[in-house]
Parts: sequence; C-alpha cells; structure tokens
Amino acid sequence: MKQSEFKKRRTQLMQKIGKGNIALIGSASVRTRNRDVDYPFRQDSDFYYLTGFNEPDALAVFIPEREQGEYILFCREFDEKKALWEGAHAGLEGATKHFAADDSFPIDDVDEILSGMLENKTKVFYPMGRDSDLDLSLQEWIRHIRDKSRSGVQAPAEMASIEPILHEMRLFKSAAELELMRQAATITADAHVKAMKLCKAGRFEYQIEADIIHHFMSEGLRAVAYPSIVASGKNACTLHYTDNHDKLKNGDLLLIDAGAECDHYAADITRTFPISGKFSEEQAQLYQLVLDAQLAAIAQIKPNVPWNAAHDASVEVMTKGLVKLGLLKGSVKRLIKSEKYKQFYMHRIGHWLGMDVHDVGDYKVNQEWRDLKAGMVLTIEPGLYIPENCKSVDKKWRGIGIRIEDDVLVTKDGHEILTSSVPKTIAEIEALMVAN
Ligand code: GLY
Ligand code: MN
Ligand code: MN
Repeated sequence: MKQSEFKKRRTQLMQKIGKGNIALIGSASVRTRNRDVDYPFRQDSDFYYLTGFNEPDALAVFIPEREQGEYILFCREFDEKKALWEGAHAGLEGATKHFAADDSFPIDDVDEILSGMLENKTKVFYPMGRDSDLDLSLQEWIRHIRDKSRSGVQAPAEMASIEPILHEMRLFKSAAELELMRQAATITADAHVKAMKLCKAGRFEYQIEADIIHHFMSEGLRAVAYPSIVASGKNACTLHYTDNHDKLKNGDLLLIDAGAECDHYAADITRTFPISGKFSEEQAQLYQLVLDAQLAAIAQIKPNVPWNAAHDASVEVMTKGLVKLGLLKGSVKRLIKSEKYKQFYMHRIGHWLGMDVHDVGDYKVNQEWRDLKAGMVLTIEPGLYIPENCKSVDKKWRGIGIRIEDDVLVTKDGHEILTSSVPKTIAEIEALMVAN
C-alpha cells in the first residue's frame, strides 16, 4: 500500500475530527505465548489503516491544523542492540522519513508530551474501552491538565469514540484496498482448489491445513486471516472447529474454512466436498440445498438493498428445502416465524470483510438494517449442520455439516464474487476430484 493512501485516510479523518479537537490511537502490543516466546505480532487494524506503521509500542496522534504538523507518531527509538537481536525498526527518524509523520517522539516520553498536546482541546477521540492502558493514561493526562487549571489551561471536556468515524471509513473499500483483497481472494481460492486435489482418505485434517498454508506462503502471503477450519465428517457440525487432528475417511465430507491475509486484508472462503470425490445421495441433497440458499442470497447483493435481504432469502430457501427433505415438519411460514430452521442453520448469512475477517462497520443505522452500497465487501456463507445426536431427524442425515462461503463486492450495478474460481456445484467438484 502506498504512503499516499494512508495520507488520504488521515486527511479524511482530520476533516471529521475538526479543528480544536484531537484523536489518539494506539498500536497493538506484543503478546506473550509462553515464557519468553511471543505470538507473531499483528498490528491493530485501525492503527495500521491510518499509519501503515507495523511496530508495537506506538501511539498516533492527530491534531487538525496544528501548526507544527497534524500527524504525530510516538514510537520506539532506534536501538542498535534491538536491531541486532530483533530486527529492523523505524526509530524517530524513520517515522517522519518513511511513514510521513509530521513529528515523532519517543514512546517513553509520551506522558510528559501528550498532556501538553491535550491542553485547550475541546474533544478527544480515541478507541474508548478497547485498550485499558490507553484509557488509564488518558485519565492521568487529563487529571494532570486539570491540576494546572489555575494557570489558565483547560482540559478537554468531551471524550468520544473514534470508532464510528473510522469504521464507517473502513467499510467502503478504495481501489487500493480492493487490489489487496483480490490478491488475498485469488491466492486463497487457488489454495482451496489445491486442497480438493490433495484430499485423500488416510491423510489428517492438519495435513490439509498445511497444504493450504504452504500455498499461501509459496505465493507470498505470510499470514492466515484466522485459524483454518479443516473439519471432516461430524467435526463440521462444530462451527469453530480448529483442532484439525482427525484422519480423513471415505464417505465423509470435508469442510474447509480458510483464508489468507494480504498486507492486512483478509479473504474468507469455505468449501465442503466429499473425501472420496463423490457425494452420497443424502450429502448431495443437503449440499444442493445450501448451494441454492447461497445463490439466492448472492442474488440479493446490489446497491440500495438492505443488508438483511440476503439472510432472509437464504432462510426461505433453507426452510423450504428442509421441509421437502423431511428434516422439518410444518408450514414454511410458521417454521420461519418460530425460527425452527435455527436448529440446523444457526448463524447469520455473513459479515463485512476487510482488514479484519469479521470486519468493522455498523449493520444497522437508526435501528434499521442498512442498505448495501458500492464498495462494501461481505461474505455470503449459509450452512447446514445436523449434529450426530439429533434424534428428531432420520439417521441418514446425522453428522453432516456443510457451509459454502464466498467473498462478494457490492458494485455500482450489482456485485462481483471475488472468490468465484473455486468450484462449488456438485458436478464441478466431482469432476475436479475425479481428475486427480
Ligand atoms: N472464517 C470465519 C467466518 O467464516 O466467519
Ligand atoms: Mn466468514
Ligand atoms: Mn469463513
């Protein structure tokens, strides 16, 4: 992502904050995994969105129309020894030179410097309640200013969450963001095709996970957007199954929900296919139903249609189909009203997709489902999950879990499926698997 893109975002943010106010946002921290081993560092998405700065121990400050510069970055000072042991970091000079900060200061001096910056500002925007260290520091800085009130300085009188402003910006993807999302989507799609080809009874779920990650990394994407779900047979009925430790068996389906991250932008694809390469009669019937629901939902994706329309379309198709197959009994209308379908389809149709896999942005505005608009990206992922112990249905259906998930961009006159290159019809999947 070019620096100019980050600058554009900061300019937009400054306009929304307004003169006389200030905004703060902290970086993510390094987290300990065990003893002196850390988890891989992943920058806070909001912080990265505005700065492109990929280090911990940093705080970005935005002060519209500040004479000495509007964008201030507190970060770690450059340290030779740290560079030798832990690798490159920008330092104060790098923060201004490579990350376009107007001013940079050592993060260790933040307490002394920041209360000065808060003096005489009206309103402070920050991610309220998200980072308890920042919440506490802010209280301290403001208390410090109040202590000086006899000298004429004023402490900010209002605090506001920066999230509504920032998250509304993040909801609409720019051309530069879409380029990264397309790259994540394409490489993820290819990994799913590869997984179908490499799937064989006797291999373990985690070995398929390894094939997928191998593809991501071979293609230059270092991180997964979320832990991969590789769930065979009944494991697919556990929505967040990530153990991935079972052996694949002919006769079972394999559900894979995996996505790569490309420069902090996620892809999120699910496919479900038979390990043997051929669907059984029951598997095919349920699979076709999920696919019909998914296609009906995708057909709803266009500007000015409410977010909920896709979900409602999927519920209708699912409920009708479940009645037809005998898994639900009664009138379709009543089963929808009483939400009986939730026994087998218990999650919503999808979510916003972007820097976070479950991306930010409101789904409702003034208590109403908001309308879709060009530039939004979302997932469409209906699923059916028939637990093994589900006594209310015929044995033949039990232990089957199916989800089909694509990433969809709302365009000016409809939609574009970013992940359409992974087969999803029964005929396409069987043909691909027979060919191997
Ligand atoms: N992979 C997480 C989800 O599909 O929502
Ligand atoms: Mn998803
Ligand atoms: Mn998913």
